[in-house]
Amino acid sequence: MPPLPLSSAYRSPKPPTSIELRAFTHGLQPTRVPDMMAHFTEDWRRFGVDAWNEVPNHWRPESGDAVGWWTLPTYLGDEFIAPLLGAAPGTCILQPSVHWTVQCLLSSPELAARGHDVLVPDTAFPSVLHSAKQWSHLRDLSPHVVPSTKAHRVDRTALLEAIGPDTALVALSHVGFTTGARLPPSFLRTVADRVHAHGGLFLLDGYHAAATQPVDVDALGCDLYVGGLLKEASGSSGNAFVYLRDGLTLTPRLTGWFGDAAPFEFRPDPEPHPDVRRRFLGGTTAVASMYHAVEGVRLLLDVGLEAVRAHSLALTERALDHADALDLPLRSPRSPDARSAMVLLDVPHAEQMVAYLKQHNIYTDSRRNRVVRMAPFVWNTAADIDRTFERIDEGISTGAYRDVHVDTHGPVT
Ligand SMILES: Cc1ncc(COP(=O)(O)O)c(C=O)c1O
Repeated sequence: MPPLPLSSAYRSPKPPTSIELRAFTHGLQPTRVPDMMAHFTEDWRRFGVDAWNEVPNHWRPESGDAVGWWTLPTYLGDEFIAPLLGAAPGTCILQPSVHWTVQCLLSSPELAARGHDVLVPDTAFPSVLHSAKQWSHLRDLSPHVVPSTKAHRVDRTALLEAIGPDTALVALSHVGFTTGARLPPSFLRTVADRVHAHGGLFLLDGYHAAATQPVDVDALGCDLYVGGLLKEASGSSGNAFVYLRDGLTLTPRLTGWFGDAAPFEFRPDPEPHPDVRRRFLGGTTAVASMYHAVEGVRLLLDVGLEAVRAHSLALTERALDHADALDLPLRSPRSPDARSAMVLLDVPHAEQMVAYLKQHNIYTDSRRNRVVRMAPFVWNTAADIDRTFERIDEGISTGAYRDVHVDTHGPVT
C-alpha cells in the first residue's frame, strides 16, 4: 500500500493535473473497480443461478471463506463495514440507501413503544428529516425539529433539553452536510446517555464521518449508525450500511422476503429473521453494486483511519491558513475537534467562483451562491491546496471570476 496521498490508487475522469475536491458528493473510482465489475459479469455468466449460493471470494481471496450473492450483505458488513465503525462482527449489513434504513427503523413497532417524539435538528439530511415527517402520518410519532443556532450549528443545549420521557428517537448527523461541523464524541455520548435514560433510541447518520476518521460506535453509545459508501468511501451508488447495537430488537414492518426467517419456504405469513440486521433487507438485493462497494473502504482500512484523519486535518488546516491570508470568512468549524473533512468558505458569487475554478480543472461546489465547499481527501496533496488557493486569490484580486458564465448541465455540481 503506498503512503498517503493515495492518488495512484484511484482513477480520475479528469486530466492528471486536475484537482478533485468533491469527496462529499461522489468519491473517485478505486483502480480495482473495473476488475471487480468484470468479476460480476463473469460470475453471472459462469455460475448463473448458482452464484446466489457460491462465487469465488473476490473480496477476500486469501481468506478461504465461501461467499455467495445471498450472504454478501452480511459478509461485507462483517469484513469491511464493522472495521470502519469499530463494531463487532454480526452487527452491520449493507443497505440500498440511508433512506431505506431510516424508513425501516420508523416502521418498527418497538420504536413507537418507546415514546412519540422523534428529535431531529433542522440541519439533518432529508433522508432522515423527511422520513421523520412522513412517518408522523403513518404512526403515532411526532417529529420535533430542533432549530439551529445563529451560526447554523446543532443547538446542543436545545437538543439536550428536548430529550425527555416521550422521546422515541434522537437522530443526528455525525457531520453536518451543510455545515461541515463534526459533533464531538463527548457530546454524542451525553446525548446517548440522556436518550437511554428516558428509554429512547439514538441514531447517528455517519455520512461524511465514517471513512474520514476512526469511529467507535460503542464509545459513542449509538443504537444505530447509518451511512453510505458513495462519497468519501468511494463505493458508488446503491451501497449504504447500518450498524445495529448488539441486543437491539427491532421488527421493521417495512421488511421483505430477504429478511424473512425462512425465505425459501414461501410461507403465507412472514416471520422475522432471527438475525435482526437481516430484517432490514427488503426484496431481492442488487448484486452488481456489491461488487464495487468496498474497494474504497479497503484502501482506507489498509492505510489506517487514523492516518486518513491526520491527512485530512493537515490539508484542511492548510486550507484554513490560506483562507485566513485571503480574509475569506470560514463557515465550517476551525477547531480540529469540530472539523470534518469539509471546508466551507463565504465567497460572494460562489457559483461563479466554482465555475472559475472548474475552468482551471479544480473541482469544488457551491451552496446558495454564498458558500464554496471543498473537501481535500486521501487523493489530494498539499500542493493541490496551494494551487486551489492561488487560483482563488487570482480570481478575487483580478475580479476575473466575476466574468465567468455559470454553465450548469444538471442539478449536481
Ligand atoms: C448526511 C447525509 N445523509 C444521507 C445522505 C444520503 O442518503 P441516501 O442514502 O438516502 O441517499 C447524504 C447524501 O448526501 C448525506 O449527506
